[in-house]
Amino acid sequence: MASGWEPSGLSDFEIADGELYHRALYLEGDTNRPAGWHRDSVQHLLDLALPYIREGSLVVDYGAGTGGSAIELLRVLDERGITIELVLVDPLESWFGKAREILGERDDVHFELSISQDESGDTVFRELDEMLGGRKADVIISSSTLHLVPVRALDDLAAQFANSLVRGGVFVWDSGDVESALKPSSAACLHDPYRAVREYLRDDEARKTLLSEMEAEDAARAERRVDRIFPVPFSIEVLMRAISSAGLLSRISDHVVDFSNEDAERFILVPRLAEIAAPLIEGEGRDAAIRSAIAEVLREMREAGTASDTHYRSYWVYGFHILP
Ligand SMILES: C[S@@+](CC[C@H](N)C(=O)[O-])C[C@H]1O[C@@H](n2cnc3c(N)ncnc32)[C@H](O)[C@@H]1O
Repeated sequence: MASGWEPSGLSDFEIADGELYHRALYLEGDTNRPAGWHRDSVQHLLDLALPYIREGSLVVDYGAGTGGSAIELLRVLDERGITIELVLVDPLESWFGKAREILGERDDVHFELSISQDESGDTVFRELDEMLGGRKADVIISSSTLHLVPVRALDDLAAQFANSLVRGGVFVWDSGDVESALKPSSAACLHDPYRAVREYLRDDEARKTLLSEMEAEDAARAERRVDRIFPVPFSIEVLMRAISSAGLLSRISDHVVDFSNEDAERFILVPRLAEIAAPLIEGEGRDAAIRSAIAEVLREMREAGTASDTHYRSYWVYGFHILP
């Protein structure tokens, strides 16, 4: 039985949110059938991390979500007969609750919800050192998460990673949504299609009508919230500066990962992500508007040369960092 955080009182929306994100990673929710983009993107990260993982290693998955990266890591380690202690960390109860449902039977997994309330009742991120009880990890992985961390928080987070590694320990991350001068013109950032869907729906008549019925201030706040779902990607340089300042030695690599049209539609219909169409109300009408927008966006990407008939090409960066 896993230890640590357990979900309680999740709403129907949150349960569906976790379930549908899991199903965006695994066809029909079957962990033996990863979506091609998920399998391929995580595989490159595991290729970098696995040589540093041994029997008994303490491994952290920072931004574990519904468990997508952890499931792939544990699959390989189980096949090799290697037992580790795996600490999963995430702030989003809806997705993390799904991870607990999938991995909760395992003795080798521990869950840490990475947010808590401070004395004034504000939500704050917990320090990694506190979540690990002062222990140092052999390996920290972070898959498809760092691009969601605000730039202002990166220096501190990188320092936390460095502080929570043993000497010779490694931090390995991937992201399909950072800007890089090395990105080929035939590929896009991972979330470019979804930002384009947001732009496409900005002028949707039904959406505009609903916004016009709101108080101006509420409408502006709602729009800002929508814009935060897929933030504008920052440059890889920003991330590298933060990680180097923390004293880690770095190596960067990259891969282009195909993202099928069907997977793109499934992805953007995950309830929390489909909120880019807010204030359209969840349901058939909203989903139809999103489906039509993503089809149009993928057509435009084919014209622009970043997609084929069956998929778009997403550009992923992989960071490998060692604490000397
Ligand atoms: C795209 S998911 C990746 C989940 C998992 N690693 C995988 O490969 O499937 C990104 C995760 O980052 C978490 N996240 C979002 N903002 C974050 C932040 N500022 N700090 C840490 N984690 C964050 C989200 O809750 C989400 O579960």
